[in-house]
Amino acid sequence: SLGAISSSGSREITTVIQENDKNYIVFYGTQTGTAEDYAKMFAKELVGKFSLKVMCADVENFDFETLNELPKNVMVSFFISTYGEGDFPDSAVSFEEFLLGLDESEQSLNRLRFTMFGLGNSTYEFFNNAAKKATKNMINNGATLIGNLGEGDDGTATTDEDYLAWKELILEDIKEALLLQEHEQVYEPSMRYDTLIANNVDMDTVSLGEPSKHYLPCNKLPFNNQLNIQTGPFNHNFPYLAPIVKSNELFGKEADRSCVHAEFDISGSNIKYSTGDHLAVWPSNSNEAIKKFLLAFNLDEDEMFTLKPLDSTVQLPFPCPTTVSTAVRYYMEITGPISRQFFNSLIQFAPNADIKQKLSQLSKDKILFAENITSRCYNIADAVLHLSDNQPWKTVPFEFLIESIPPLKPRYYSISSSSSTEKQMIHITAIVEKNIVNDESSPVLSTYGMTTNLIKHIECSQNFEEKTTDQSGVSFNLDGPRDLFQDYKLPVFVRRSTFKLPSNPKTPVIMIGPGTGVAPFRGFIRERVKYLEAQSNSNVNLGKHLLFYGCRNDQDFLYEKEWPVYANTLGEAFQMFVGYSRVPDAPKKYVQHLLREQREQIMSLLKEGAFIYVCGDAKGMSQDVHATLVDIVAEGLTISENEAIDMLKVFKTTGKYQEDVW
Ligand code: 2AM
Repeated sequence: SLGAISSSGSREITTVIQENDKNYIVFYGTQTGTAEDYAKMFAKELVGKFSLKVMCADVENFDFETLNELPKNVMVSFFISTYGEGDFPDSAVSFEEFLLGLDESEQSLNRLRFTMFGLGNSTYEFFNNAAKKATKNMINNGATLIGNLGEGDDGTATTDEDYLAWKELILEDIKEALLLQEHEQVYEPSMRYDTLIANNVDMDTVSLGEPSKHYLPCNKLPFNNQLNIQTGPFNHNFPYLAPIVKSNELFGKEADRSCVHAEFDISGSNIKYSTGDHLAVWPSNSNEAIKKFLLAFNLDEDEMFTLKPLDSTVQLPFPCPTTVSTAVRYYMEITGPISRQFFNSLIQFAPNADIKQKLSQLSKDKILFAENITSRCYNIADAVLHLSDNQPWKTVPFEFLIESIPPLKPRYYSISSSSSTEKQMIHITAIVEKNIVNDESSPVLSTYGMTTNLIKHIECSQNFEEKTTDQSGVSFNLDGPRDLFQDYKLPVFVRRSTFKLPSNPKTPVIMIGPGTGVAPFRGFIRERVKYLEAQSNSNVNLGKHLLFYGCRNDQDFLYEKEWPVYANTLGEAFQMFVGYSRVPDAPKKYVQHLLREQREQIMSLLKEGAFIYVCGDAKGMSQDVHATLVDIVAEGLTISENEAIDMLKVFKTTGKYQEDVW
């Protein structure tokens, strides 16, 4: 299976290095794929600049017992993201365990030289904790950190710039440490695989994105290519193609936005979830985005090709043989923001001197780049066409695009159903994102949420309304994965979360979730309803469950008709407080204002041991709510603000104050 990255099937790092004649390792530990993107970018740079023979691989696929026995000139660069409460990504847990198992007195990593770049988010408390922990541990065991520990910060949206600044210095450090010669960066077109044009292939073997045969919406193919993907276990590497059996609009007719409720049927799988988990969903690109991309790079959508890995450490990014449009539709993140690094690597393929100069200028100047590219929300095709006055670029090899554009990643949603009510069905609740960017140099550009628009589109098509375009102005190929009943299928897997109700139903619960932040609380409440219904004795007592909800107005009140039904069953145990923020002539009322109004009740529930849950916006809301809770606790207990902060910190570390924020 996935572990097989050496021809002999070894997971032993030194064996793999020797078998594949490599002299540099770039390892990544990734939760959502970002660390992997950066690791690959860095690996390419090392090849281009220094002609190193680089292996770029997931720490998950290796045993580290021989980490200290690498040949003397082999260095290791780590890219590790931090997830949840300062945790290592799931795939790096065994690496973490390896490090924790070392005995510092033995200094058993004393030959290892490494670099470290962490990917994290400073909005969270334990910023880049995994990378810092790994670094400290390796140093304590005798390893030598080369250069500075890099820290990418997604919280300030500067990961890209943080990486570039770190990279600049670290390349010098590596050059010095390994006594390397630098040459003008050249693109080596077949660094990882050869791209062969496939004519005369049996059409039955060509992957077109269909589910039963070859479709695997991720970049991690098993080596034996046995794609019996519907047997599980289902995870990031092997998602389940789940039928969407229901998808409907939640907002009122007058609303200027859209919010979908979708139900995924998991009865055909062995997937289990529990209330409060997340569902990862893979989208595919819209017809419009694909068309523009193909146009920008002068690509023929029907061209068939196959990729041939150059050594056994290379995993194919998608099933082959395939067609250009299949690869673009299902596997390439073509509408995400562009990195300055990508622009830099495009210079070599600029179609003329004028564009070459524009590219060099933009990729060197952070501010110019932000002004001209990032703030305009350009995607790759937009940017390329903008620079060439809408003329297609005929000079960029497709294999370069496959290697340089990040793989299409799943999007995560808080599950809004309860695993005790809906065992075989997973509900999600999501705003259909659509932003119009006005820009004087180009007419109107829009960015849109790919997955939510696709789901919205499925709704439109199921209701036999507008078949080809929904209100976002984008359309999707719905001829893709379907089963007999015509339910459209999307690849999914469940990501476990720690956002869980207290196990004792008598424990009081305070839930705060404005907007779609209410999603997991719908699951929580359904869970409690089910619990009460299952009790034969109607006198069982349930702890008090308070729900603080905020929306703009009546139009975006989510699940408005459901709450009274829940209240009916739960009786006094359930109380919902609603604030509106955009009702004409009324002051804004946010969830924190509602909390303040209920301060006494909140205090007395906290004294009874209540759990607090916050879901929704990480930047504004969750911090404002935290500040309000600090006030309430400080006042209620007549303690200082700092003491209240410390108290809530303890709540957080003991799981009594949980956040699911983004
Ligand atoms: P708004 O109309 O002012 O944007 C869901 O998005 C709800 O959360 C909306 O009513 C929104 O109000 C509100 N909201 C926005 N910022 C907030 C904040 N910092 N704290 C609490 N609620 C907020």
